[in-house]
Amino acid sequence: MTHNPLAPPWLNEPDDANALAGGLWSRTATRTGDGEMAVGGVAASDLARDFGTPLYVIDEHDARSRAVEVREALQSAFARIGTHAHVYYAGKAFLSTEIARWMTEAGCRIDVCSGGELAVVLAAGVDAANVGFHGNNKSLAEIERAVVAGVGTIIIDSLQEIERVADAAARNGRRQRVRLRVNSGVHAHTHEFLATAHEDQKFGLTLEQAPDAVARIRAHGDLEFLGLHGHIGSQIFGEGGFAESAARLLGVHKALLRDGPVPELNLGGGFGIAYTSADDPTPIRQLADAIADIVRDECARLEIPLPEVAFEPGRTIIGTAGMTLYEVGTTKPVALDADGRPLSRLYVSVDGGMSDNARPALYGADYSARIASRTSDAAPALVRVAGKHCESGDIVVNDDYLPGDVAPGDLLAVAATGAYCWSLASNYNYLGRPPVVAVRDGGARVIVRGETEADLLARDAGLDGR
Ligand SMILES: Cc1ncc(COP(=O)(O)O)c(C=O)c1O
Repeated sequence: MTHNPLAPPWLNEPDDANALAGGLWSRTATRTGDGEMAVGGVAASDLARDFGTPLYVIDEHDARSRAVEVREALQSAFARIGTHAHVYYAGKAFLSTEIARWMTEAGCRIDVCSGGELAVVLAAGVDAANVGFHGNNKSLAEIERAVVAGVGTIIIDSLQEIERVADAAARNGRRQRVRLRVNSGVHAHTHEFLATAHEDQKFGLTLEQAPDAVARIRAHGDLEFLGLHGHIGSQIFGEGGFAESAARLLGVHKALLRDGPVPELNLGGGFGIAYTSADDPTPIRQLADAIADIVRDECARLEIPLPEVAFEPGRTIIGTAGMTLYEVGTTKPVALDADGRPLSRLYVSVDGGMSDNARPALYGADYSARIASRTSDAAPALVRVAGKHCESGDIVVNDDYLPGDVAPGDLLAVAATGAYCWSLASNYNYLGRPPVVAVRDGGARVIVRGETEADLLARDAGLDGR
């Protein structure tokens, strides 16, 4: 098969542009007898009819089962080497009270990084002791609220914050457990990781600053130091970056043991998922085992006791559970010239866009799409799925193949939109943020309602008193 020069090197024309490739779609996604897509036992056309489009659809079985699998994979890998792993679901990926409850029922703790996220988990009834609170610039009010609520750990991100958290703890008569966020100089993304002496980024302290910062923490009787925290990036497919980061953190961890206990090491989140057929993330069990071996070997080499470990996976739990359903509004073939060969790309415009999925515009993220309302025998065409916003960078799927007869009125499903889509959604062009529907065993229910024009106008103070 010749490769279409307009397509990226990793994308080949599929034999069947209707097929739901394994690993990309949530576990209950399938095609029914008449060719329509269904998820959680609910047909795409029923979802569109009952809830409208665009629509975020979360496969409840998928989300819950992955949360259990990820937690069990990490806990069994670290139990094997003789220690315990705490697993925090990273709420920034997707958080609502319902999702917070699913994660708690799966045995996960939850990490939050703002007062708003904290409010959601507390409203969901999550035990504050099981919450970790992040942020490089937490406000005094957020710190106070977290301490008063009894948040299990606050991840201190700067020298200034040590005093702020200690003051809040003293004022409220609490002993606050804290971790210290450091940047190890390791930055990882997908296959590669970069290891430098310093990391040029806003989060955390350098490894060189850590001993002094920990001494300051330990000088406060109102603070209890748990350990170092390092998060090296996102969409990580292999263990290499974790190995380098763990080794660097454990070197400092050993030095800190001279002056007091360091019961824990937090290695953050970042486990990758498949967004396209080219993505091949290492299965979580294999990754967990590899990281556990690295921690065991490094602790043995340093001759230090194994700490408990903590992880903060977000995307790998909720990413594949989500898909977004759109309706196609217009199509437009664009004739292009590739090295003298006349070729064309089909633009397929849908009724959402960068307001419900900012990731392609923000950092060039790739996604995959399928016609959800039917199958087709038409030859595959290279398409670009565009949104409806006034912005030429408003692209939902940069490149995929769809049946060439894709047409207005078709429902289009975009895979793996569970993480960092709803949570990064905006009201650009005054589009209301779509509802989120959970599907399971043939039933669908709204877990976050969509915004109406009345919602959007309700905050416009220019209408007050009229
Ligand atoms: C500190 C921290 N922990 C965990 C995560 C979750 O990462 P992911 O969803 O890629 O697992 C992030 C993501 O930005 C993070 O910054």
